[in-house]
Amino acid sequence: MGHSFGRDSGATIEELKSQINIVDVIGRVVPLKRAGANYKGVCPFHNEKTPSFVVSEQKQIFTCFGCGATGDVIEFTKRYYNLDFPEAVEKLAKEHGIEIKIGGSGNQEREKYYEINKEAARFFYRAFTEGKNPGYSYMKKRGIEDAILKKFGIGYADESWDSLYQYFKNKGVEEKVLLELGLISEKNGKYYDKFRNRVIFPIINTSGKVIGFGGRAIGDAMPKYLNSPENMVFQKKNNIYALNISKQDVGKEGYAILVEGYMDVISLYQHGVRNVGASLGTALTENQARLLKRYTRNVVLSYDADTAGRNAALRGIDVLGSEDIKVKVLHVTDGKDPDEFIKKNGKGDFLKLVDSALSMTDYKLNAAKNGLDLKTEDGKIDYMKRASDILRKLSPVEADIYIKKLAGELKIAEGAIKLEILGNNNTAPTVATRRRHEEEESRRELSGMEATVLKVLIINPCFAEKLLECDGIIESELGRKILNLMFELYGLRGGFDISDITDSLDPVESQAFTSAMDGIIVAGNEEQVFDECIRTWRLGNAVKKEQELIDRLALADEETGSDSIKELTEELMKVQREINSFGGRK
Ligand code: UTP
Ligand code: MN
Repeated sequence: MGHSFGRDSGATIEELKSQINIVDVIGRVVPLKRAGANYKGVCPFHNEKTPSFVVSEQKQIFTCFGCGATGDVIEFTKRYYNLDFPEAVEKLAKEHGIEIKIGGSGNQEREKYYEINKEAARFFYRAFTEGKNPGYSYMKKRGIEDAILKKFGIGYADESWDSLYQYFKNKGVEEKVLLELGLISEKNGKYYDKFRNRVIFPIINTSGKVIGFGGRAIGDAMPKYLNSPENMVFQKKNNIYALNISKQDVGKEGYAILVEGYMDVISLYQHGVRNVGASLGTALTENQARLLKRYTRNVVLSYDADTAGRNAALRGIDVLGSEDIKVKVLHVTDGKDPDEFIKKNGKGDFLKLVDSALSMTDYKLNAAKNGLDLKTEDGKIDYMKRASDILRKLSPVEADIYIKKLAGELKIAEGAIKLEILGNNNTAPTVATRRRHEEEESRRELSGMEATVLKVLIINPCFAEKLLECDGIIESELGRKILNLMFELYGLRGGFDISDITDSLDPVESQAFTSAMDGIIVAGNEEQVFDECIRTWRLGNAVKKEQELIDRLALADEETGSDSIKELTEELMKVQREINSFGGRK
């Protein structure tokens, strides 16, 4: 299927968009559910549990009411797949069998850059494969087999000052372009090759385009690795070295191994560990995490064991974590990097390290011990503080597991660790962890209304029956837990004390509960207080519903969707009448 608009004409962007349904494009990667005239799903652009990502089929746009992301199918493709505009258009056109004619020179210029890079890669490859040369000897000395050298397109930039420049000059390529791509440099009006006497690692993106190069010195020349500069087609922060080759293996294995260096990738690959990539020497970025997410949700970081590698791992954990990727970390135990390790110990031993890689929390806890002597009191206390900062960001269940571990390890009472976690709130977590933290926190807290309802129930359990009419008024995890306890105790003994409840809660919960109870005075008019709670709760629900309808109306199409607009408007008016009958919003 799909339209072709012929080679000469070519579809415009508007024609392209008219051939594509945004619901299909998004629906392939984000599970969508019909919601009235629109579709709803969990936003792929921020962390959320309740869907606020709406796709309008009529308007052909998406909007997230949580993070504000919005746009058309091209914007979605750009953001989701990490592409720039021309790349997104190209992808969509290709997938739908549409030939596209793009106005402006942007696309043609990119294509030209890719072509020149490819041509340069071929030039380096020929120098590497045709006849004896220091590049090939070097890679052989490092034990890399011919088949692997070929697979990665390894090349050699010769020792002469300008052979690549002359080659391109003869082909009529302008200096400006070669300069921009970082293939040559200029000094006193003369042009020189940028890469000289280096082994060349072409960097190829997941669409198979040569976007840049890394060049390793053969002798002691500095820098050890020279990389292409950032330019129109090469952005380090958007790419992962070798993912073009390893993406299938990543999918197959269900996880990706990220290493620091070009040689680590190639060496692991040769030894049969093929689900591997490198973050191009930089600290992992959000875009690289998003790129990985297209292939897997599980990443094992295998960075060098030096300080730089350890710090990069700690940062990587957070970047990947906030993209909802599960991270584990290992540092090789023999040799300075994965390349050295696998050469010496083989695939089996490397995979054993992968198996025993530390989870992100274990790794952070381990790193927190750095510089502390846990045999001393002071060391223990400092470690406890650092550990508490880490555990505070976890869900209660996760935290509980680590609290037990920690208590055993330090021979400190679990309660003391819990108090430390609870008591010390002076850290500044990252946005992502804060968001999650707040979510988790709210589960361990009671809203004012919940506290009031529970208090009334404690004073007079007869109201429990009324509660059945408004299931959902107690919705926090803690609230429901307490409510269940009350029912249980009541059924068991026909009554209970506050202390019966607190005894069954953990210290964090128990504290939240008693302080909430202390703050509420019901003073004899339980019925009135209880009814007021129910009224407020119903009003809150109606206001939420009102907002949802307003959102949906905002996305509804005036022309084609008049029926649904009418429906939505009527529903909205009904809800607004309800709100008024509750005495209006506060
Ligand atoms: P390493 O120095 O750990 O390199 O840098 P390596 O991969 O072990 O290299 P070999 O084994 O000595 O050949 C890790 C990565 O950091 C980037 C490169 O991407 C390299 O692979 N790097 C390093 C640079 O970009 N420039 C440098 O000068 C050094
Ligand atoms: Mn190395």
